[in-house]
Amino acid sequence: MNILLVGSGGREHALAWKIAQSKHLERLFIAPGNAGMALLAGAALKPGVAPKPGAAQIANVALSAKDTPGLLAFARHNAIDLAVIGPEDPLANGLADELSAAGIKVFGPSRAAARIEASKAFAKAFMQRHNIPTAAFQSFQRHAEALAYLRAAFHAGSPLVIKASGLAAGKGVILPETLAEAEQALEQIMLAHEFGAAGDEVVIEERLSGPEVSLIAFCDGKLARPMLPAQDHKRVYDGDQGPNTGGMGAYAPLPVCPPELVTELTRLILQPAVDGLRAEGCPFVGALYAGLMLTPHGPRVIEFNCRFGDPETQVILPLLESDILEIFLACAEGRLDQAAIDWRRGAAACVVLASGGYPGKYAVGREITGEITGLIAHSQKDSSEDSFIFHAGTKTDADGRLLTAGGRVLCVSGWGADIHQALDAAYRAVQTIQFEGMHYRKDIGWRAR
Ligand code: AMP
Ligand code: GLY
Repeated sequence: MNILLVGSGGREHALAWKIAQSKHLERLFIAPGNAGMALLAGAALKPGVAPKPGAAQIANVALSAKDTPGLLAFARHNAIDLAVIGPEDPLANGLADELSAAGIKVFGPSRAAARIEASKAFAKAFMQRHNIPTAAFQSFQRHAEALAYLRAAFHAGSPLVIKASGLAAGKGVILPETLAEAEQALEQIMLAHEFGAAGDEVVIEERLSGPEVSLIAFCDGKLARPMLPAQDHKRVYDGDQGPNTGGMGAYAPLPVCPPELVTELTRLILQPAVDGLRAEGCPFVGALYAGLMLTPHGPRVIEFNCRFGDPETQVILPLLESDILEIFLACAEGRLDQAAIDWRRGAAACVVLASGGYPGKYAVGREITGEITGLIAHSQKDSSEDSFIFHAGTKTDADGRLLTAGGRVLCVSGWGADIHQALDAAYRAVQTIQFEGMHYRKDIGWRAR
């Protein structure tokens, strides 16, 4: 199969790495990819070595994930059999619709189905319509009304969460401790337009508590089949301190979410969501991500995402035994009930190496050193090893030096017979890497140790 993978983060590097192991792969194009995916390409096509007959070819393509016409033209001209779309933005922009209309199979939802992530106001009302358990909420388009609601809630002593309704790269959620903080957040979102149009509407919801679970399902429009549950570490510092980030590490599976609970959550939440979207005329094909909180009153949905999680994917895919292209194709063809989805025993964990200052302002272009050749060799290892360095924000310069190019730079995954071995493998690999300002959490997986 000829595959087009859209995206450039750690999640997409993990997808590319897993797709590269498929026996069905002929050519994998990654748009735009990153330096890590270029190394993956190097692993398949070593310089000066002709590819083995039948060996897959992997290449980055200089097309932005936002360039819908460019991606469509590329897919048409390169006989793409299946497109796999990583991030939410191109999905919310209708890339899957355009590709499907051109007769190209897609793993990733339509624009209409992607509203489950792209509009929190839609998602909340949708959950209400389909009896999917979620935090109590109100949506507001007027600042004055939202403010009055906030003040009343604070006077009643009810803790709240304020969310920009639209896409805000994981940063549009505020958990205010005081009324002053809440008022300021509302002003920043609705009046100062800090998140642009994403803040034209806000959702204010009750503050829940309990362990968080990321449960992602493969979906074919009709059926939801869950992956292993994972847990992200959103706060920047050890002990879950400091501001929220895009995710500083993850592990899977979760002791707090055994297989019976996964089955129950699928029955209560993921399958009803797939049924609801289908009933509303926008069947969901792709990875449906439920961010859940296991509260004392039962599980509640914190958010849905219309894609794989980042960094959850970097721990889920190393544990997937089955051929991922067979699963993706079954989803795109509406016959997921026939696909084999088998998981390895054991556990995986990943540690995100971030730029100094992240999630605030940070510098880019810092050279990534240490075992630089080791790093490259490491990035080309096959899956029989116990760790892998997924790249998130990296690039190479004209001299072939590896440079930082984002807030989250690398995501180091390790795996083993249990969470301890997985963490050891990940942190051992972390020790081989340095760049100026590099920081990471030392306590990934602490809830499972
Ligand atoms: P989100 O971007 O919606 O995933 O929210 C980011 C983080 O904010 C979540 O992972 C939770 O830790 C926290 N959060 C969001 N909504 C709530 C809520 N209703 N109650 C408590 N914490 C929440
Ligand atoms: N790790 C959180 C997310 O992917 O949204």
